[in-house]
Amino acid sequence: MELGTVSVTPWEAEAFVDYDRLIKVFGAKPLTDNEINMLKNVTEELHIMISRRVFYSHRDFDKFLEAYKSSRRCALYTGRGPSGNTHLGHMLPWIFTKWLQDKLGLDLFFQMTDDEKFWHTEEREFEYFNSLAYENILDLAALGLDHRKTHVIIDSEDIGYLYPIVIKIAKKITFSVQRATFGFTDSTNVGMIFYPTLQMAVAFLPSELFREPIEVLIPAGIDQDPYWRIARDIATSLGYPKPSQIHNKLLPGLGIGGKMSSSKPETAIYTTDPPELAYGKVVKAYTGGRATAEEQRKFGGNPDVCPVYKMYEMMFEENDMKLYERYYSCRGGSLLCGECKTELAERVARFLKEHQSRRIRAVSHTEKYLIRNKFDPPIIKRT
Ligand code: TRP
Repeated sequence: MELGTVSVTPWEAEAFVDYDRLIKVFGAKPLTDNEINMLKNVTEELHIMISRRVFYSHRDFDKFLEAYKSSRRCALYTGRGPSGNTHLGHMLPWIFTKWLQDKLGLDLFFQMTDDEKFWHTEEREFEYFNSLAYENILDLAALGLDHRKTHVIIDSEDIGYLYPIVIKIAKKITFSVQRATFGFTDSTNVGMIFYPTLQMAVAFLPSELFREPIEVLIPAGIDQDPYWRIARDIATSLGYPKPSQIHNKLLPGLGIGGKMSSSKPETAIYTTDPPELAYGKVVKAYTGGRATAEEQRKFGGNPDVCPVYKMYEMMFEENDMKLYERYYSCRGGSLLCGECKTELAERVARFLKEHQSRRIRAVSHTEKYLIRNKFDPPIIKRT
């Protein structure tokens, strides 16, 4: 989809600056106090990613919460394209999803799209992406997602769970809709053209597995929205509830502009980075500061364009008062970038150290997360 000069598809989400414009073009709704209060009513407290509007837009989140409150059966769905090691930008929605799962006590279906990433990427063998799907489960485990309630679908191996649903989805979607929604061209391989049916299918899988209509909420980056627009269009005609969404802004990289991305590893913090390496990346980050300390003291810095400040805001500073203080001492020139970066670097390194020790402990437990060890595939009722 063209947004002025910015192209936004799930595979290209570069300069995600104008989020307000984006939801208008996508046709989603901004998250308002109404939905936030409804959530608080159920969860009692709010996650910073909600109160600070990191999750900032939605489709039918209010309806989902109403369904939950009236004891209709609900589930969560999110996923990952395993194209490399996990970085903090990937973890952002998972951290929030875990919080929601704990508060609401819901099953989470987690899709690992090894097929998508193989089809999308030039150089690598398929087996590389499949191995990464297993590797990436370690991050889910290290985040503390409960394996009794978290069910991982690896597309290539668990296709039997999806295929009965995919057959029906595929018949409803024309190539012209796919092309307009995802920006496919005549030279796009047919794997990619088929792939969206698989990502949509998981939104309907809970209804098949539990054999009743399940209300599904998908917390995910706003770049994934195109899939849900189509899924919602076809849901009713297939006999499923429309999945609802809550969208997060993408974590910026540590360089100038753009999201944290594996294509710029020096500006991304990976969960597998040795803590000292990550420390160094943060210390070298681009900031909203002035050219010299003297100028900064005089004129102040600009946290609104600073990826270091964004990291505090979106993930690393839980305390609102402290965040507020940081913002104003930056603006007022009393807080210099060196100090601000060192503090963040320490927090990031500490987080990684703890995450990595939980990752190591998870190595022998990944199979507990696999859907195939817990559910039978949907049944096809012969006529
Ligand atoms: N396409 C997503 C990616 O490239 C992976 C994915 C599959 C996903 N299903 C999802 C992401 C559901 C969010 C929600 O990362």
